[in-house]
Amino acid sequence: MIILKNNLQIAEMKKAGRITAEAMAVAIESIREGVSTWDLDRIIRHRIERCGARPTFLGYGGFPGSACISLNDEVIHGIPSRTKILHEGDIVKIDVGAFYHGFTGDMARTVPVGRISAETEKLITAARESFECGVAAFKEGGRMGDIGSAIQNRVEADGFSVVRRYIGHGVGRELHEDPEVPNFGTAGRGIRLQKGMTLAIEPMVNIGKPDVRELSDGWTVKTADGTLSAHYENSVALTDEGTVILTAIYD
Ligand code: MF3
Ligand code: CO
Repeated sequence: MIILKNNLQIAEMKKAGRITAEAMAVAIESIREGVSTWDLDRIIRHRIERCGARPTFLGYGGFPGSACISLNDEVIHGIPSRTKILHEGDIVKIDVGAFYHGFTGDMARTVPVGRISAETEKLITAARESFECGVAAFKEGGRMGDIGSAIQNRVEADGFSVVRRYIGHGVGRELHEDPEVPNFGTAGRGIRLQKGMTLAIEPMVNIGKPDVRELSDGWTVKTADGTLSAHYENSVALTDEGTVILTAIYD
């Protein structure tokens, strides 16, 4: 069941989204060689709690961290660890959500540690731009397949691939609500897009093949072929004024 949100609820979701974006910003500022993913997780947790919010992922399905932090060929759901230290040339994916006044935000970014190769830079850009293509297709009267197809086309234009096994989702009082938001598909197909929908649009983009594998820790997802992967996500609402990014800091 898709839960549409009214303007008041969307205003509340912006507050949760803002806290999420602030926690992301402090984590990104802290990224440098020698920092562990556990350090980043603690910085995120403190920032969220200082805002009177709760890290949505902490304890979700038993997840042990406040954020998912995934390195290089890890696609998503990396567990923060004291022994995972950032090195020059790595890429770090941070995925975080803050729960505040009954709603959650959900967002992800991919950030380089120091200098990275041109190819890796291109991968990160493809993930971000494919998200933007997806948002541009999130329009009243459109179909869910318009979003997936826009994302997939942008990614494949660079010769990269979109992960199929994990997809975006509705977001609101729950982290995962209906509908499913695939990062692939056919324009003109799927459910109708409507005002009041709040979606987490989150392309996961691999340099190599789309296949992934889950590690025995029960969480970490890696590319099957060992190639690098980038992730970009925001919570986005469709309103009377068009799309609004909820996980942003508006001044
Ligand atoms: N941000 C992830 C998603 O969009 C959720 C992380 S899984 C968790 O599905 F268990 F850590 F919450
Ligand atoms: Co999500």
